[in-house]
Amino acid sequence: MSNKIAVLLSGNGSNLNAIINKGINVSFVVSNNPNAAGLTIAKKANIPTYTWKSLSRLEKEVSKLIIKHDLKLLVLAGFMRLLSKEFVNSLPPKFIINIHPAILPNFKGLNAIEQALENCAKYTGVTIHYVDEGIDTGSIIQQEKITIYKNDTIKSLQKRLQVVEHDLYPNVIEKILSKKLQYY
Ligand code: GAR
Repeated sequence: MSNKIAVLLSGNGSNLNAIINKGINVSFVVSNNPNAAGLTIAKKANIPTYTWKSLSRLEKEVSKLIIKHDLKLLVLAGFMRLLSKEFVNSLPPKFIINIHPAILPNFKGLNAIEQALENCAKYTGVTIHYVDEGIDTGSIIQQEKITIYKNDTIKSLQKRLQVVEHDLYPNVIEKILSKKLQYY
């Protein structure tokens, strides 16, 4: 059984970096953003990269690559576009996972960290979930909470959240690949 994954990203790629550092085999990395720093991280690790700005083209090409590489799992790591319902439904259930910087169902969508601060939430955290056709609505796989301090800023909170993400995401991916984890 294949245990290959691919990563979709739009930005910095620090989660991709954590996944690579864990020794997980990444077959290719795709971005909608040609300037994403995550593409440089992939190239340095000798992972093939692809960029398509158009979402429909990206989905079409990724569908072909999934078959070509016999992928087991598609990992969204800071991919800031909503995949179409046609694309999501064309893949087996539980094939796509995402990481979100909040305790879902709280603070879905964009700017989750800002949303938590604006709402004076006492805590926030990280959620890893399966991707369905909604916005951050798929079944939750794992969550980890962190406390929000009075003097927290977007930057300070994001820094602490990313420490959690970089530990949690590679661990969950490993467990899914070894079939030790389905739902929580
Ligand atoms: C991560 O914090 C991830 O949780 C968030 O984007 C960041 C990407 O960081 N994702 C979302 O907000 C999805 N709605 P990275 O590019 O350094 O991995």
